[in-house]
Amino acid sequence: MTAPTPHAAGRLTVVLGITGGIAAYKAVGVAREFVVAGHDVHIVATEGALRFVGRPTLEAISRNPVHTDLYEGVAEVRHVALGQRADLIVIAPATAHTIASLAAGLAGDLLGTTVLASSAPLVIAPAMHTEMWEHPATVANIATLRSRGVTIVGPDSGRLTGTDVGPGRMSEPAVIAAAALAVVGPRDLVGRSILISAGGTREAIDPVRFIGNRSSGKQGVALAEAALARGASVTLVAAHLDVDAPTGATVVTVSSTSDLQGAMRQHSATADTIIMCAAVADFRPIAVADGKIKKDAVGETLSLVLERTPDVLAGLAADRRPGQRVVGFAAETEPDDDRLQHIGAEKARRKGVDLLVVNRVGLTEGFGAATNSVMMLDGDGSVVARAAGDKLSVAHRILDLLV
Ligand code: C5P
Repeated sequence: MTAPTPHAAGRLTVVLGITGGIAAYKAVGVAREFVVAGHDVHIVATEGALRFVGRPTLEAISRNPVHTDLYEGVAEVRHVALGQRADLIVIAPATAHTIASLAAGLAGDLLGTTVLASSAPLVIAPAMHTEMWEHPATVANIATLRSRGVTIVGPDSGRLTGTDVGPGRMSEPAVIAAAALAVVGPRDLVGRSILISAGGTREAIDPVRFIGNRSSGKQGVALAEAALARGASVTLVAAHLDVDAPTGATVVTVSSTSDLQGAMRQHSATADTIIMCAAVADFRPIAVADGKIKKDAVGETLSLVLERTPDVLAGLAADRRPGQRVVGFAAETEPDDDRLQHIGAEKARRKGVDLLVVNRVGLTEGFGAATNSVMMLDGDGSVVARAAGDKLSVAHRILDLLV
């Protein structure tokens, strides 16, 4: 007997939804593709699907019980449990009716609740007659699903039920399985614990004012998303984010450099990798006024005396455990590429990091933008990689280097 070949993504929990069309018989092949590739397959079949293909066949192939009824397994909250556990949901075949239900977000059956309860990638393989596939209602529903990030595989053009020929034939099982597995990135950070700081700190001047910076937290949040998608457990130390923290991360909210330092030190004890993406204040007021500073009491000018903040990153790097990796960021306004690299190299050595991600910032670059362009330097200050693009793809490049 040959052992299954593990996919780069590791062993996945795949929910395979089968809906009521003649192509349901080919779903047996889709289930088999996933099982042979070493994945744990849980089939959710609609009543309609079970008129085309038998439950014993699906259970024998998937090696798990087939789920159909919303009112079975209520004690284990099955209507959401399957979706919550899934790494990937594939619906093959997806009928016009199912596609419409998904577009509307209906939860009238087990497949609907499973999809709504899940944050896993959703891949569907439509199968129907050409007229139904080309109907404006289906076209609009497919566009809605695509806009939500659903991957649509096929349909192929070819022989349909009866004598009809045209677009609407479900793609071949191997094609569906390969397309679905390609959607799930590598799970190469399973078992790793990553601590990420994101956003920008604020240093109080008085109870209503602060010194802050323009960091949105987007790059740090993208790193957290990428690390979660690759299977890491993520703690996100969040300082005034403009964007939502990803579901699945443990979020620790902080405000000042001192809060951030406390949180990073505490959580670094269990982290394999520390990524200091937050823009940390370099100076803070020596004293915070107890009450709001009044213009009348101050006059025409106000001088604030600032002191240096502790360098959190350098401290974490100096105290790191054997094997623990520390990544820093450097946001610089230097326009010249060579000089930017020189500044980065000096900083990488001074801070004692394993990797320094250097990016240029300005009023229109870096902070708050959806994209980023970075050079990555090792601890000696040599350029080891460059990356440009949306912040999520830059995040994946950074994680590639760590892996
Ligand atoms: O020295 P500079 O501020 O350019 O260094 C940037 C890097 O150092 C970032 O990773 C930032 O999170 C970190 N940093 C820090 N503590 C400070 C200032 C910056 O950890 N006080």
